[in-house]
Amino acid sequence: MTELVCASIMEPAISITILLLFLPLLFLLTYRRSFKRIPPGSLGIPIIGQSFSILRAMRTNKGEEWFQERVRKYGPISKLNLFGTPTVFLHGPAANKFIYTCSEELLANKQPASVRRIMGERNLLELSGDDHRRVRAALVSFLKPETLKQYVGRMHEEIRLHLHNHWYGNNEIKVMPLMKMLTFDVICSLLFGIERGPKRDTLVKLFEDAIEGMVSLPINLPFTTFNRSLKAREKIKSIIIELIHDKRKKLEKIGICSNEDLIMSLIRMKDQSSDSSVLSDEDIVDNIFLVMLAGYETTSILLTFVIKLLAEDQTVYNHVLKEQEEISKGKALGELLTWDDLAKMKYTWKVATESLRMNPPVFFSFRTVLQDIEYGEYIIPKGWQVIWAPCMTHMDENIYPEPSKFDPLRLESQATKPPPYSFMAFGGGPRMCPGNEFARIETLTMIHNLINAYTWKLSLKDNFFGRNPVPVFIQGLPMQIELKKSSYEM
Ligand code: HEM
Repeated sequence: MTELVCASIMEPAISITILLLFLPLLFLLTYRRSFKRIPPGSLGIPIIGQSFSILRAMRTNKGEEWFQERVRKYGPISKLNLFGTPTVFLHGPAANKFIYTCSEELLANKQPASVRRIMGERNLLELSGDDHRRVRAALVSFLKPETLKQYVGRMHEEIRLHLHNHWYGNNEIKVMPLMKMLTFDVICSLLFGIERGPKRDTLVKLFEDAIEGMVSLPINLPFTTFNRSLKAREKIKSIIIELIHDKRKKLEKIGICSNEDLIMSLIRMKDQSSDSSVLSDEDIVDNIFLVMLAGYETTSILLTFVIKLLAEDQTVYNHVLKEQEEISKGKALGELLTWDDLAKMKYTWKVATESLRMNPPVFFSFRTVLQDIEYGEYIIPKGWQVIWAPCMTHMDENIYPEPSKFDPLRLESQATKPPPYSFMAFGGGPRMCPGNEFARIETLTMIHNLINAYTWKLSLKDNFFGRNPVPVFIQGLPMQIELKKSSYEM
């Protein structure tokens, strides 16, 4: 009986004790979020924040140092304010993995307002979920290796024409403007089906104006860069719409076209169940815009750096030359390259990959935070943006020893393989660049033609480049060239 009384008195006491013991834990679990902190750093002056500071650093090619300084000061996560939005900078392979695998409900691929207004709301970078999958699948159906295989010969012809028109007969050329011209011509011809002539010439100027405004403050006043970019966008849009209408008429008239380009393939794409178009005209305009911006600057920068690195490293140059001469030996004079030939250019592609590691054309990228995100001990608030920079991972000496050394065989000689998400030049996950194969074909075909036909030497000792936001060689990278053979036909 006494035991029973004791037990009945004890039970509530034990329950209360247990409750008291576990209450703090419960509290901790429930309110864990409120203990998380906003990452360290400063948001600076409202709206402006660190925008001018980073733009200045990039223009003087000190962008990497600028980010390194942040990492030294605050660690791999810090807050700042860029282009009018509070931002969190993330660094390292774990951060890269987080960004590329995070649910799109938390972290959306929304670009800053300036980029979005210039590129259009329907471009792939702005889409998510099913919408993103549908438009991406349409682009990939043209950009996948199985389709592109058929275009190697056409790419080769386009490159030959470029060498004939712009290199042949010259003793000195400027590499960067020429590589831009080449990639623009290749995209116009293979992807858009736009012939050489006034339309192409107008487009190239308009695209340059449009690109410039993407990293400017989104202030739309008559004298601002942003205003000029918006005007350029409108003009480009009407050119693309006209192109779509012309192609549609052509399709109705002649049916399937053998020499198809990307625009034609997007127009033709039908939903099998409803027989309606998979992409609207708006989808096509904004994505043609994206493909031009994504493919024109990036590949021209890759080619410019590869040519520069080959001029600076005789041993690597000799290896590339040997590989390319071997391929030429197996072909008749003037015979076009094939997909199988490209597969043999393994060393040349390693050179290009090492160049992408050291000088990734995409310097940084953004995402928008849709809901508060817990990241380690920190919270990244809803409405902010996240920024990361591939060059920071590529130059991390714990991942790539002696990161400033140009070593195309580094992965073969390195004792430990870099962890996943350490090579980020083409992004990753479901957002990985769908144009990487196109860029590979273009780069290898150009280097093959160039190294077989020409020798080259940099004209200047100091070839300074800044970023705007992509690398720009102030003097265009002038180079003395000499034709190797009487015929430039390869
Ligand atoms: C050396 C050349 C290139 C480099 C280094 C490069 C790099 C990149 C990177 C880093 C991304 C991901 C950006 C992010 O996650 O925010 C990306 C996306 C993209 N790239 Fe490229 N790119 C190159 C060439 C091309 C070409 C030639 C095309 C088209 C023909 C292209 C089309 C695209 C598109 C459409 C996306 C968006 C993908 C998506 O969001 O699903 N790129 N590129």
